[in-house]
Amino acid sequence: MYDFRPDETLAPAELHRQLCEAADALTEGEPDGIANMANVAALLWEFLPDLNWAGFYRVAPAKSGGHELVLGPCVGRPACIRIPFGTGVCGAAAGSGETQLVEDVHAFPGHIACDAASRSELVVPVKREGRVVAVIDLDSPSPARFSREDARGIEALAALLADRV
Ligand code: SME
Repeated sequence: MYDFRPDETLAPAELHRQLCEAADALTEGEPDGIANMANVAALLWEFLPDLNWAGFYRVAPAKSGGHELVLGPCVGRPACIRIPFGTGVCGAAAGSGETQLVEDVHAFPGHIACDAASRSELVVPVKREGRVVAVIDLDSPSPARFSREDARGIEALAALLADRV
């Protein structure tokens, strides 16, 4: 049994450190990327307060050729399955290779509302050898839920996962 018990009163930097430590322990030596994403989605949900969705989109073949984002392991309500690069917050992160920290999703052009409750969002690309292979997507029902410090913490997690998803 895995029993990670995050203390949500910890300072964000320490919470992120413990999250990365738990993700490292769970994914080290496991070659199955789906299993690793599933466990990390569960960890994100357990460690980070005030979320309504946590999970992954993977870069995968598009039905009509080329590549796009395709839904991966997640916790929360059912979500849209395919997102072209450049569309919505996730597509912006995948297309630019840059973290997207969105304080108010209603003000983000092209935001894709998978859950009407979402108010703010953090999307961090996972890169392998410089190429985006997936994104980590976090949604919150609270406006401006995510800080630059949260972004740095999830970027550290994405770096850890580069060869594990
Ligand atoms: N809001 C995202 C879509 C994915 S859901 O939040 C799970 C976006 O605009 O890309």
